[in-house]
Amino acid sequence: MRIGVIGVGRIGTLHARNLAARAELVLTDANREAATGLAGELGATVAADAGALLDSGLDGVVIASSTDTHPALLRAAMERDLPAFCEKPVAMTLAEATTLARLEADRDARVQIGFQRRWDLGYRRAQQAVHTGELGVIHTIRATTLDNNPPPAANIARSGGIFADMCVHDFDIVRFVSVADGLAAIRIAVACQESLNRGVVVELAGLT
Ligand SMILES: NC(=O)c1ccc[n+]([C@@H]2O[C@H](COP(=O)([O-])OP(=O)(O)OC[C@H]3O[C@@H](n4cnc5c(N)ncnc54)[C@H](O)[C@@H]3O)[C@@H](O)[C@H]2O)c1
Repeated sequence: MRIGVIGVGRIGTLHARNLAARAELVLTDANREAATGLAGELGATVAADAGALLDSGLDGVVIASSTDTHPALLRAAMERDLPAFCEKPVAMTLAEATTLARLEADRDARVQIGFQRRWDLGYRRAQQAVHTGELGVIHTIRATTLDNNPPPAANIARSGGIFADMCVHDFDIVRFVSVADGLAAIRIAVACQESLNRGVVVELAGLT
């Protein structure tokens, strides 16, 4: 099997290392040195850019580049009927994500988004307990995600911000664990260490 990996930063490197024993890999990254270095380590080949990679006769592609690149790359993979694993979040805006979801449905495309918590045994057990009624009527689910430090400023600019970048896991898992159609509201609060030191939560967002 021949798999392409677009973006070999933090998470793309992890995906490439996990795949290396199972597939022939083709890598690309805007930072050519990063792709070349990892390719040397894993015995992979390097494509000049994402377009060249997508056209190199792949069986599937992993999109692990910066979030702002996901919509165009995912669209390009679907247009080639190439099975795609795309890191979360799928897009920086709801409109873009909705357009891609419609395209996926129209083409019956094989796409998976990187919401790995759905395969975590603890979350799966919680989902089962909710669905079977073992936990009774669910009024509130609290989900907390903690990170050591804020990401670098350059990363924030291309990430969609903390709600899209990190809290999207909480939006996803609350819907997964609960029966999503029964949800009345999801509210999310975010704090960073500096604000916690001062005892305040810096941002608040909600969906109803
Ligand atoms: N599922 C998860 O838990 C999880 C964890 C970490 C990151 N992510 C997601 O993965 C994505 C990457 O995050 P990261 O932390 O690895 O970021 P990163 O900045 O470490 O890596 C991104 C890489 O993409 C490359 N890149 C950017 N534009 C490109 C393009 N057009 N073509 C090829 N390469 C390009 C950059 O040079 C960089 O090496 C983000 O969308 C992030 O939200 C998901």
